[in-house]
Amino acid sequence: MNKLFQPFSLKSLNIKNRIVMAPMTRSFSPNGVPGDNVAAYYQRRAQGEVGLILSEGTVINRPASSNDPNIPRFHGDSSLNGWQKVINSVHAAGGSMGPQIWHQGVMDNHHSGWLPLTPFEGPSGINRPGNTNGLAMSDKNIADTIAAFGDAAADAKRLGFDTVEIHGAHTYLIDQFFNADTNLRTDKYGGKTLAERTRFAVEVIKEVRSRVGEDFAIIIRLSQWKGYDYSYKMAKTPEEMESWLTPLADAGVDIFHASQRRFWEPEFEGSDLNFAGWAKKLTGKASITVGSVGLSGEFMAAFRGESSDPASLDELLRRFDRGDFDLVAVGRPLLADADWVKKIKEDRTSELKGFAKEALAELL
Ligand SMILES: Cc1cc2nc3c(=O)[nH]c(=O)nc-3n(C[C@H](O)[C@H](O)[C@H](O)COP(=O)(O)O)c2cc1C
Repeated sequence: MNKLFQPFSLKSLNIKNRIVMAPMTRSFSPNGVPGDNVAAYYQRRAQGEVGLILSEGTVINRPASSNDPNIPRFHGDSSLNGWQKVINSVHAAGGSMGPQIWHQGVMDNHHSGWLPLTPFEGPSGINRPGNTNGLAMSDKNIADTIAAFGDAAADAKRLGFDTVEIHGAHTYLIDQFFNADTNLRTDKYGGKTLAERTRFAVEVIKEVRSRVGEDFAIIIRLSQWKGYDYSYKMAKTPEEMESWLTPLADAGVDIFHASQRRFWEPEFEGSDLNFAGWAKKLTGKASITVGSVGLSGEFMAAFRGESSDPASLDELLRRFDRGDFDLVAVGRPLLADADWVKKIKEDRTSELKGFAKEALAELL
């Protein structure tokens, strides 16, 4: 367990332990502006000794980058002033933090019925096979979106954040470009191979790198699974995964955040390495694992109301000891309990709470 409590440094990132708060959308930012309640929520996690806090997904400056007005924006004076308070509060409590910058791409409409002023946009106007709910992006839309990712990253650095995470996972915009099901383009942003379909992400990463400089740590979050198919594998072999991740590493990614619903599930037959393990092995970059750490059940079931009990960290530590990954992201346990890290560190296991859906209703 002690190894999880060793510091980690990479470029701008200097964190006191290996535990990362996973990005979790909370929709508590009316009109996209994070208020004092949001700053206090993140500050409580810094006080609770989380090593690195990743913010909830916060959207870039495109007219339809979000399907929910309560998701925070990472553009515009009022939202950025809100984020300034967030990072100041986290730093005052000795924490480190990066925003997860996000464009949702083609989305399903929000259950509230709210819609942005312009249609959703994505590589081909679809977010799963057969479901058109937006427009195919023009070259200008693509160029403006890349620039908007760069602006958000530059603002993250200017406000004093320690890192930035590009959201490239979970069937949102960047992932829609990676995925053959949602990227039907025949121009240079499409292609038959996963390697060809990395082009949009590569251009985003290069733009972000050019705006933040060499010494600012860039994280990208990726997932094989899709919202419409949890067993989906874009990369079916280690070779295909290498052809996906290498261009991203070459473009400037420092840390791969490999999203799984259950961290212990092997990525390919013949090895027990998980996604974070393969990302590190194939690229030589640092990696973050995530998915049901310390909990009995996974997070998509949590949205359907399923509760989870605390679970052992032994298997996580076995993989961590082996050097499979550098950092461990924890979602629901930290959503429900700001002191989860302290309790783990101090071996107060009887005080661990697990997760119940009621925790989603407020900023605990
Ligand atoms: C309420 C909630 C909101 C989430 N929002 C995001 C998000 O904005 N961006 C993201 O990449 N993942 C998001 N996730 C996924 C988490 O970051 C994490 O990968 C997932 O919960 C698995 O970790 P856990 O099992 O420790 O909860 C969300 C998860 C939850 C529970």
